[in-house]
Amino acid sequence: MIANFVINVMFLFFFYGSHGAKFIIKNNCPYTIWPATLTSKGAQLSTGFELASQASSSLDVQNSWSGRIWARYHCSKNGKNFTCLSGDCDSGEVACNGKGPIPPETLLEFTIVGYEGKDFYDISLVDGFNLPVSIKPLNRGDCNTTSCPIDINKQGCPNDLAVRNPVGGSIIGCKSACVAYQQPQYCCTGSYGSPQTCKPTRYSRQFKHFCPLAYTYAYDDQNSTFTCIKVDYMITFCP
Ligand SMILES: *[C@@H]1O[C@H](CO)[C@@H](O)[C@H](O)[C@H]1NC(C)=O
Ligand SMILES: *[C@@H]1O[C@H](CO)[C@@H](O)[C@H](O)[C@H]1NC(C)=O
Ligand SMILES: *[C@@H]1O[C@H](CO)[C@@H](O)[C@H](O)[C@H]1NC(C)=O
Repeated sequence: MIANFVINVMFLFFFYGSHGAKFIIKNNCPYTIWPATLTSKGAQLSTGFELASQASSSLDVQNSWSGRIWARYHCSKNGKNFTCLSGDCDSGEVACNGKGPIPPETLLEFTIVGYEGKDFYDISLVDGFNLPVSIKPLNRGDCNTTSCPIDINKQGCPNDLAVRNPVGGSIIGCKSACVAYQQPQYCCTGSYGSPQTCKPTRYSRQFKHFCPLAYTYAYDDQNSTFTCIKVDYMITFCP
């Protein structure tokens, strides 16, 4: 009886106490990508791994986790040194080991079981764009999918923001104006450091045009942050 009770309590704790969510990451791109995570709060996840085209991988996330996910591509190994032309974290390894991405990259931001027990998630182009992506809460019709489904590299990256593959010259990333120009009006710093003074620019409007659900500058409208409760997330690159 007692043992059963203890096991039941442990079972409940496992599912409703510590377990926060599962991220299922799918690579729908026609090439290999290397997803990476950067934990800002809570238990570390795998900080980087390879994902072949059409493969999926899942990460278990504990309550009160917050952090970021992005993906690298055009990666190669030079001797022992693993580097990527897009989304690199400069760790020299497939694992990013707590290092963040060198922009530009499409950034997925999550808080799992945060304020009022809710999850928060968004897609940020504040540092630019490298791959299209979607975040879909699973089995909850009332929670919204967010996405940046358009390949901005192909559809409309201005020349001055483009990052090109040194081999062949194709665009493999698109910087935000903040990353490219480091100016207060683009980065929402200095006298532009408030929602009242930092407004969309022609650069951020271009991103918003392609990806209306994404954050395109630091004070982009609250429309771009999504919430859900007790759910797993399907993250698809090249949705
Ligand atoms: C790894 O390669 C990158 C890019 O070529 C280079 O910048 C970096 O210095 C290299 N790191 C080591 C430890 O060789
Ligand atoms: C999903 O989006 C709709 C329309 O914008 C909104 O009314 C609804 O509250 C959203 N659902 C959640 C869980 O935020
Ligand atoms: C929120 O996003 C929707 C969908 O893109 C858009 O139609 C709407 O105008 C936005 N609302 C605000 C307050 O920006």
